[in-house]
Amino acid sequence: MDLYEYQAKELFSKHGVPVGPQRVVASPTDAVVAARILGLPVVIKAQVKTGGRGKAGGVKLAGSTDDVTTHAEAILGLDIKGHIVGKVLVTPASEIAEEYYVSFLLDRANRTFLALASAEGGVEIEDNADTLARIPIDAVEGVDLVKAREIAAAAGLPEATAPVIVQLWKAFVAEEATLVEVNPLVADPRGEIIALDGKVTLDDNASFRHPGHADLVDTAAEDPFEAAAKAKGLNYVKLDGQVGIIGNGAGLVMSTLDVVAYAGEAFGGVKPANFLDIGGGASAEVMANGLEIILSDPDVRSVFVNVFGGITACDAVANGIVQALQFLGKVDKPIVVRLDGNNAEEGRRILAEAALPSVVQIETMDAAAEQAAKLAGV
Ligand SMILES: Nc1ncnc2c1ncn2[C@@H]1O[C@H](COP(=O)(O)OP(=O)(O)OP(=O)(O)O)[C@@H](O)[C@H]1O
Ligand SMILES: [Mg+2]
Repeated sequence: MDLYEYQAKELFSKHGVPVGPQRVVASPTDAVVAARILGLPVVIKAQVKTGGRGKAGGVKLAGSTDDVTTHAEAILGLDIKGHIVGKVLVTPASEIAEEYYVSFLLDRANRTFLALASAEGGVEIEDNADTLARIPIDAVEGVDLVKAREIAAAAGLPEATAPVIVQLWKAFVAEEATLVEVNPLVADPRGEIIALDGKVTLDDNASFRHPGHADLVDTAAEDPFEAAAKAKGLNYVKLDGQVGIIGNGAGLVMSTLDVVAYAGEAFGGVKPANFLDIGGGASAEVMANGLEIILSDPDVRSVFVNVFGGITACDAVANGIVQALQFLGKVDKPIVVRLDGNNAEEGRRILAEAALPSVVQIETMDAAAEQAAKLAGV
């Protein structure tokens, strides 16, 4: 889960990374109130989960309350790379002597953690990627003051940043993040170090150890189908097409998305409506939960259930489909089922015998994808 800047900075603050005071508001009037409390000048910042806000006009300095109103009006509702700004952060304008970049991330390719740092932080960091110092961090040793000084020195940051780097590492570990990034980390003219921006990605697989993280979920911005799927423990991602997809195994589902998108080109460009991996034991309950979510999506015009029986045999999956459809009652969208692999014959026989009016069986993946796309076509 990615956090908003204001959430990231609240989390930093909890772990001793210095951040300024801040208030989050959703209207220009509230922005003016916040500015009065914090004291002018302030910076008004779009809260969206994407980068490049400054370049998109989402970060503005306001020296007067009129400025606050003007900027808040302009930024609220702004579309930044497809993210509509619903909230702005109001924070005192800092005096900036220098801007640095510091982050910790999980480096999956090298099976380690990595510190990235640069003395040329700020909005141009993408263009300054070659100035980034990369320091691998041993998971057991972590980052103490000595290591933090090594990171600072490698990037040419002043030594005063080292204690902040240690606290940032502590936040990374304590919250089980896969990314913490500060850009810019600034030094003011007196040499004080403060984080003016924050980006955090939390590891969802660790969320059971962090009950507090549930409060960070922005339920208003969450897709309702994804929220319903998450509540049922399903691996579901909403997409913008018309063919509902259910498969077992992430790899099979990914290739199903590809074949459906390809087949859909011949039928007015229909596309997959979702990703849904029901994993191993495709029980009737999991199948029913998956079908229920997909069939309730008004964009869905047909469903493709693509199962390759492995440890879970096709007869068990077929029984799951039959029970799920009995449980769901009347289904008014066509469901194309392709069963292959372990006990496919038996699975197909069970489905054929059940003679479910909404179900069409097709033996190969390509032909089934074509049929599902055709049924969803205009
Ligand atoms: N509180 C502040 N006081 C003074 N200047 C600020 C403040 N916050 C941000 N800035 C300036 O605005 C620039 C952009 O801000 P910020 O880093 O938060 O957004 P961004 O980098 O454009 O967004 P993103 O990190 O999403 O790409 C900073 O590099 C800094 O120069
Ligand atoms: Mg930034």
